[in-house]
Amino acid sequence: MENLTYLREKSIPEVPKQLSDLSIIRFIKEEILSNKVIASYFPHTIGQPVLKIAEGKAVENRPLNVGVFFSGGPASGGHNVIAALFDTLKSLHPESQLIGFLEGPNGIVNGKYCLITSELLAPYRNQGGFNLLGTGRMKLETQEQLEKAWITVQKLQLNGLIVIGGDDSQTNAAFLAEYFLSRQSSVSVIGVPKTIDGDLQSSFTSISFGFDTACKVYSEMIGNIAKDELSTKKYYHFIKLMGRSASHIVLECALSTHPNMVLIGEEILAEQTSFMGLIQEIADLICKRSEQGKDFGLILIPEGVIEFVPDLALLIKELNNLASLQKNEILDVLSAPSATTFKALPEMIQNQLLMDRDAHGNIPLSFIETERLLMENVKAELLKRTKEGCYKGKFSVQCHFFGYEGRSALPSYFDSHYCYALGIVSALLVKEGVTGYMSFITGLEKEVIEWQGGGVPLTALLDLEKRQGVNKPVIKKTLVDIHSKLFGQFKNDRLKWAFNDAYQFPGPIQFFGPKELVEASPHILK
Ligand code: FBP
Repeated sequence: MENLTYLREKSIPEVPKQLSDLSIIRFIKEEILSNKVIASYFPHTIGQPVLKIAEGKAVENRPLNVGVFFSGGPASGGHNVIAALFDTLKSLHPESQLIGFLEGPNGIVNGKYCLITSELLAPYRNQGGFNLLGTGRMKLETQEQLEKAWITVQKLQLNGLIVIGGDDSQTNAAFLAEYFLSRQSSVSVIGVPKTIDGDLQSSFTSISFGFDTACKVYSEMIGNIAKDELSTKKYYHFIKLMGRSASHIVLECALSTHPNMVLIGEEILAEQTSFMGLIQEIADLICKRSEQGKDFGLILIPEGVIEFVPDLALLIKELNNLASLQKNEILDVLSAPSATTFKALPEMIQNQLLMDRDAHGNIPLSFIETERLLMENVKAELLKRTKEGCYKGKFSVQCHFFGYEGRSALPSYFDSHYCYALGIVSALLVKEGVTGYMSFITGLEKEVIEWQGGGVPLTALLDLEKRQGVNKPVIKKTLVDIHSKLFGQFKNDRLKWAFNDAYQFPGPIQFFGPKELVEASPHILK
């Protein structure tokens, strides 16, 4: 049937000039400082150089067997990484094979896989989701898991293994690379930077794939709500946006839609704004707008904001370090300030905070109804102010959570092309025979033709972090830099957005039409 999905399947991604002739590519080395703190965990892979693509001489290629799996939450564009791996491997040598592991890391540990053919792949080109192979969040750390993965690699005689995932999944990739090298294996483990959260950054990776599409989808929906609100003028919309701890998604969407108030976790932490302080700030805005005759508005809330509000952050930190306890035992083990914070929370939020952490020790933030917690407390504060005679408005709220809607949408032009380029570079890193690298593309703010590729050693991205009370090597999440130029610009602009209702309505992602619409890249790159 002729529809947008079908038209996108047929579309051929644009390729950076540097990657257009695969026969004359080589990598040049650039030494970087390695992080000594994690050296003892990665004796075989520590201290490797950064690799950058340059022009080389034509060489004869041999067939390569490469495995690939998705890991963690879906992010738009993942299927194009696989499409580019397939196309590149076949173009390097027609007898090369691409094997897809099913259900994420579980697929390699338990030997569940399928052979990727051009017929199988065809309907997934330029499509959202991870449904070609499925995904999962298994943490690879036990000897038994690593050994089982190793057995699968040997059985399939893999030359390369591509791990498409976020920070936790790239930590998995680092452990796999280290383990395989310790077994004298030459298999190349290469990571591909994925996550809508935008928190997997390095000096070479300015943004992970999936971020652009998710932000564009959320921005369209925020714009639609803004239009409704301007029409009806009767609600405050409290909109929580997915994105885990960091507030990158909220900041990006705010720059696209200009809401009245935007909570930025990193700023709340820097200013040590307490939970009640935050409630006062929101109530102050609502009171001032009400004095202007406006009992409506738009507030954006990052999914992870509670991890930054100092009193709640302390509570979460203590809860994360506790072994699973019954609710009635919690108060006995928490510090006095955290026990007070816990008791003050509605039962619904208390229960959500006690839910099981994922395999990587992350709190399930998307389950915690922060938007409702804020709304209930703002309501109570406004009632108090009404009784004191300082607020005469009417406060009606609609709470929203935009999350899963943005993770598997049709990838934007940016994500389609970015993923295709990442896939090519990853295949070339396997061909180069290196391991423990994450592929990258630089120059993303420029036209696709100018993008440049390479690989950064995973060990250069790792650091020690306490997870569930134990120090573990992990890839640190990159938070919003509140001292950046972009943030400074946002701080200036938001003063106008608070009262002027200067909303923007970005509309749906465009695939056809003017270049500035179709090829628009995220604000974070500017
Ligand atoms: P990744 O880090 O795996 O990319 O996950 C992204 C994310 O969408 C977060 O924004 C969100 O908090 C989480 O996954 C939700 O996880 P789940 O899919 O397990 O509900």
